[in-house]
Amino acid sequence: MPWYYAVAERDHEIQNPTSAEKIAQLGNYLRLGPESRVLDLACGKGGPAALLASTFGCSVLGIERAPEFVEAARERVAAVGVGEIVEIVEADAHAVTLEPEAWDAALCLGATFVWDDLAGTLAALTPTVRPGGHIVVGEPYWRQWPLPRGTDDQGFVALRETVARIESAGLALQGLIASSEDDWDRYESLHWRALEEWLAANPTDPDAGEIREQHERSRDDYLSFERELLGWAIFIARKPG
Ligand SMILES: C[S@@+](CC[C@H](N)C(=O)[O-])C[C@H]1O[C@@H](n2cnc3c(N)ncnc32)[C@H](O)[C@@H]1O
Repeated sequence: MPWYYAVAERDHEIQNPTSAEKIAQLGNYLRLGPESRVLDLACGKGGPAALLASTFGCSVLGIERAPEFVEAARERVAAVGVGEIVEIVEADAHAVTLEPEAWDAALCLGATFVWDDLAGTLAALTPTVRPGGHIVVGEPYWRQWPLPRGTDDQGFVALRETVARIESAGLALQGLIASSEDDWDRYESLHWRALEEWLAANPTDPDAGEIREQHERSRDDYLSFERELLGWAIFIARKPG
């Protein structure tokens, strides 16, 4: 079966509702430079890794489980000319042994589910960052709380409560880069275009029905409540030391 996200994210450079400018802003907040060592867990197609390395000259180790995305990430890194300083490893990030205090920054943009949730991700990533280094998490939050009756919270909470979860892991919030409505619309529209084009080109594929169903369900959720209620932000947290 064509993996849904491999079809849907065919045209995404960054597989989250954010932008190249905001990833550069992240690098600025982290004060990245050629000496910096960055770990990017669940790095996807390597968009953020390639941008950070090409903008700041930092070295990046990206870990990604999906072979299609690993291949795309390696191609992007080579195309951008940062192959000397960016390495992409195909692995389950949860199963990788993370060396203690080895990184200036550890990133997990849009994949806290790998360690179950935000708390699990912070617990997994904090030990691998040096004292005074940064843990960076891209995570959804609800813009309105409580949610309208009947809305599944999907395990996410409001912005202040999301930050409280970071603080209760012993970390200090040092930066916040929230997604705009345009970031969200671009992220969603790239899904819709890729899926509609794939469905038009593969009408008799045995999985076409299932892919259309998932595409339409996801688009309807976005249009009917997520566009208004769901936020997403990059949270930059500092480890004490
Ligand atoms: C929403 S995408 C974000 C990709 C990238 N961080 C970005 O911002 O462009 C989530 C990524 O997590 C990857 N992923 C899911 N489970 C994983 C795991 N256990 N180990 C490594 N990567 C994983 C998916 O294949 C996907 O590329």
